[in-house]
Amino acid sequence: MCGIIGYCGPRRAAPILLEGLKRLEYRGYDSAGIALATPGCTTAGEGADSLGVIKARGKIKDLKALVPPDIAGTTGIGHTRWATHGEVTDANAHPHLDGTGDFAIVHNGVIENFHQLRDHLLAQGVEFHSETDSEVIVHLLARAYQGDLVAALTATVSLLKGTYGIVAMYRGEPGRLVGARNGSPLVLGIGQGEMFLASDTTAILGHTRQVIYLEDGEVVSLTADEYATSDLMNREIRKEVDHISWELESIEKTGFTHFMEKEIYEQPEAIRRALRGRLDREYATGHLGGLNLNSRELLEVGRIVLLAAGTSYHAGMVATYALEELVRVPAVAELASELRYRNPLVERDALYFAASQSGETADTLYAMREVQRKGGRVLGICNVVGSTIARESDGGVYIHSGPEISVASTKAFTSQLAAFYVFALLMGRMRHLSHDQGLRLIEALEAVPGQIEAILAHTEPIRALARRYASCEHFFFLGRGINYPVALEAALKLKEVSYIHAEGYSAAEIKHGPLALITEETPSVFLVPRDGLREKVITSMKEVKARRGPVIALAVEGDQEVARVADEVLYVPEAHHLMYPFLLAVPAQLFAYYCALERGCNVDQPRNLAKSVTVE
Ligand code: M6R
Repeated sequence: MCGIIGYCGPRRAAPILLEGLKRLEYRGYDSAGIALATPGCTTAGEGADSLGVIKARGKIKDLKALVPPDIAGTTGIGHTRWATHGEVTDANAHPHLDGTGDFAIVHNGVIENFHQLRDHLLAQGVEFHSETDSEVIVHLLARAYQGDLVAALTATVSLLKGTYGIVAMYRGEPGRLVGARNGSPLVLGIGQGEMFLASDTTAILGHTRQVIYLEDGEVVSLTADEYATSDLMNREIRKEVDHISWELESIEKTGFTHFMEKEIYEQPEAIRRALRGRLDREYATGHLGGLNLNSRELLEVGRIVLLAAGTSYHAGMVATYALEELVRVPAVAELASELRYRNPLVERDALYFAASQSGETADTLYAMREVQRKGGRVLGICNVVGSTIARESDGGVYIHSGPEISVASTKAFTSQLAAFYVFALLMGRMRHLSHDQGLRLIEALEAVPGQIEAILAHTEPIRALARRYASCEHFFFLGRGINYPVALEAALKLKEVSYIHAEGYSAAEIKHGPLALITEETPSVFLVPRDGLREKVITSMKEVKARRGPVIALAVEGDQEVARVADEVLYVPEAHHLMYPFLLAVPAQLFAYYCALERGCNVDQPRNLAKSVTVE
């Protein structure tokens, strides 16, 4: 939530900040702003020498329209906001200035004790210009400044409770930025005679691949040529420089209309990457290098708990079915947000996974830390390399999907499934699965990308279906067994991007209440693969039909019986029964995408949402 960027170097900062903000826009798009160490633009400060700030509610394109194309200033900071404290207004947009207009900050996170800090500052005569929690930071910074910006920021953050990624600048030290992090990501980019500071690497990938990920409790100072990192006791910290391997084109639309569409189409390749080097035909097992667990430790695992939120939670739910079937140990998916506050029991033989595309989701991160505090071992299943969950987990697996920019998560879902399945194969082969069974599973997994390609080659029926049904205001998505979480995911996708109210249910459960909502205007989408529960799902379809509810089925090619019951059918290729979650998710994603197009929604940036939810 919220994207922040800073630049210092020889070039004009404004275009670099705006370009970086555009790439960070998926993190929030309520308002945006920049501050430059130059006069000449609208300023909330007092006089021509103060820092220039341009900010406004709306998206980056609205901000861009306000920024003079030739505006000077080679040091600056920028912010794109996802509102937490205070409405979406110009005044609440970042950057925020102190009363003199000499200090400016941008902040990502939530300051929990801001009421106390604000009251304290008000009592000292400080005037506030916004309703945000963030504004206290800049006033504290200005008051703490005694000739050393790093010392002032260090003193400031030691007063803060909550989460923050902060970048600050001071007119009296032009050419210097300082930053601090606690719970909200901050990455330093080291260029040729220039430096960057941003919420994530996508903002700076066009300029440098050399990065340093800041840890919680670290402070950084940068000028065009130098940087220094320290802890909150002002002790110097030496950090390793990482290299970003993502290509620039992976964060561009490359001919697609939306990132969501692009990312749906990237799934075959993303799954291949998630599987690459991890399937061993000789021993019919899986290899996962980063687990940091030896075979004996893996054998001792008596229970698997998957922690996640949103789409990652649905992927985790699917994985529990596969794990229980293949490994024969109890597996459960838990909403990370709920587990954390439940005082969870952490059993000695339990193995935990924190699944998160971004690796920054606060709910998942805090649940992981809670489990670790209680002595539990947590492995990460992340996409973003170097993300907080990836770094703080006790081992884990990268899914290698490449950047996922669209707020609606698609390729991360199927790639997480691939990673979980490799783990299930590995664990299963250590226990009950025969060589033959392992081999069959490998073949089934390897077939998935091609099967998805076949679905993606014929999307016109899905588009036509969306044209016919996009005006409906309510939908049900219904599945059984391992495909029940796919129904939840399909409903989440539809509501998220098209604003259609959708409920995901077990097909068995509708007779326990939701059937009362079935009308001629409420379509039900049934997931009916050829598996052991197919007959049961067909029975539920008939129950809905009998109440005149429109029935749409996602079924397996050639399934005539389903076609006879349903009003509409979309087909997926025949597959191993555990692989249907991959195949059914794809038409569901496309259906949501096409419905959103039909309804004129902003597909990649749905209202009120942000990609990476770094607040609780
Ligand atoms: O980055 P994460 O996988 O931890 O994100 C979790 C959820 O915020 C995320 O999946 C969210 O539900 C998506 N917008 C769904 O499309």
